[in-house]
Amino acid sequence: MRGFGFTEHGGPERLGWVELPEPVPGPGEVRIRLRAAAFNRLDRFVLEGIPGVPIERPHVLGSDGAGIVDKLGEGVDDLEAGNRVLLNPGLWDGSCPACKRQEEALCRNYRIVGEHTQGTMTDLVVVPRRNVHAIPDSLGFAEAAAAPLVFQTAWRALLTVGELAAGERVAVVGAGGGVSTAAIQVARLRGAEVTVVSRSATKLDRARALGANRTLELSPGSELDKVLWAESGKQGFDLIFDSVGRESVPRTVRALARGGRLVIIGATSGPLAEIDLRTLFWRQASIRGSTMAGRAEFEGMLTELGTGRLIPVVDSRHPLERAREAFERFSSPELFGKVVVELPG
Ligand SMILES: NC(=O)c1ccc[n+]([C@@H]2O[C@H](COP(=O)([O-])OP(=O)(O)OC[C@H]3O[C@@H](n4cnc5c(N)ncnc54)[C@H](OP(=O)(O)O)[C@@H]3O)[C@@H](O)[C@H]2O)c1
Ligand SMILES: [Zn+2]
Repeated sequence: MRGFGFTEHGGPERLGWVELPEPVPGPGEVRIRLRAAAFNRLDRFVLEGIPGVPIERPHVLGSDGAGIVDKLGEGVDDLEAGNRVLLNPGLWDGSCPACKRQEEALCRNYRIVGEHTQGTMTDLVVVPRRNVHAIPDSLGFAEAAAAPLVFQTAWRALLTVGELAAGERVAVVGAGGGVSTAAIQVARLRGAEVTVVSRSATKLDRARALGANRTLELSPGSELDKVLWAESGKQGFDLIFDSVGRESVPRTVRALARGGRLVIIGATSGPLAEIDLRTLFWRQASIRGSTMAGRAEFEGMLTELGTGRLIPVVDSRHPLERAREAFERFSSPELFGKVVVELPG
């Protein structure tokens, strides 16, 4: 079976087609024939290599995927070949203390499809039955593949970890990333007042169409903390959703309200940041980290995808044959939402 990925870690020049054996579903597992898969920033980190994370090579990229049930492992009797399904890329062991408390996102053996396992940019993928969900009728395969990773991340980060309440003021840093497009919608769904900051006016127009109440364009030289502080009427934000990292965090900390929460889910611009601790204790603010989501959070998000109150944002679609071009688009500064690759039925 051919997949899009790499044999040696490095930059995009390492990407190409690799051969893997067809995966066979074991007991309690399901094999999905993929019809669509989507890129995440994680794919770039996996390609470059992540310190301390052994990655099997050759490696197929892709955490998100949707398709049809192809083959059932022993003991799986509540699905049928041909069912339209999407996969939850978060893998938990089901047996550690966190899993027993239904806190799967805190599983001590938490793994992600496409990072710790082979990914979805290929024909077939095998996951546990509990990671397989029916695709809401209103969604095609491309939309279904665009949703799982970013929406579950935004859901847990804002609602569980960030404890977002209706009426609170939220700032989302960045408009065009897949996670930002999800976070804007999840925060609005909760009834929060959402401000989005971006380097691009075009992306901010699109953020407003997704429900953002207010938008702020960051021009070169403008200072994020001052822009946010002024926007909040010098009160600060109750929650700031930040995935940018080094470039933003020293400033987003300063734009927190009393009791505010800075929720960090990524560090696109770099992992090390210096912050003024006095801001935290004086404002009694906190910095919280969040990753992926547990089973109940995933199902909550999926229900809202079914009602149409959350809508996957697809930047562009590309045939898997052209995965390289899709990956280039994924690196484009114009990116807004998810880059999806499609496989013929
Ligand atoms: N913890 C988790 O479970 C989890 C899950 C998903 C993603 N993540 C992480 O979250 C981050 C966001 O992921 P993503 O897939 O949405 O895509 P991404 O391509 O990393 O996100 C780009 C976003 O960051 C903004 N941005 C601001 N300054 C930037 C800079 N200097 N360089 C690049 N982008 C900048 C962009 O905003 P504008 O272009 O609008 O200005 C855009 O909204 C990544 O670091 C990813 O690894 C973590
Ligand atoms: Zn566990």
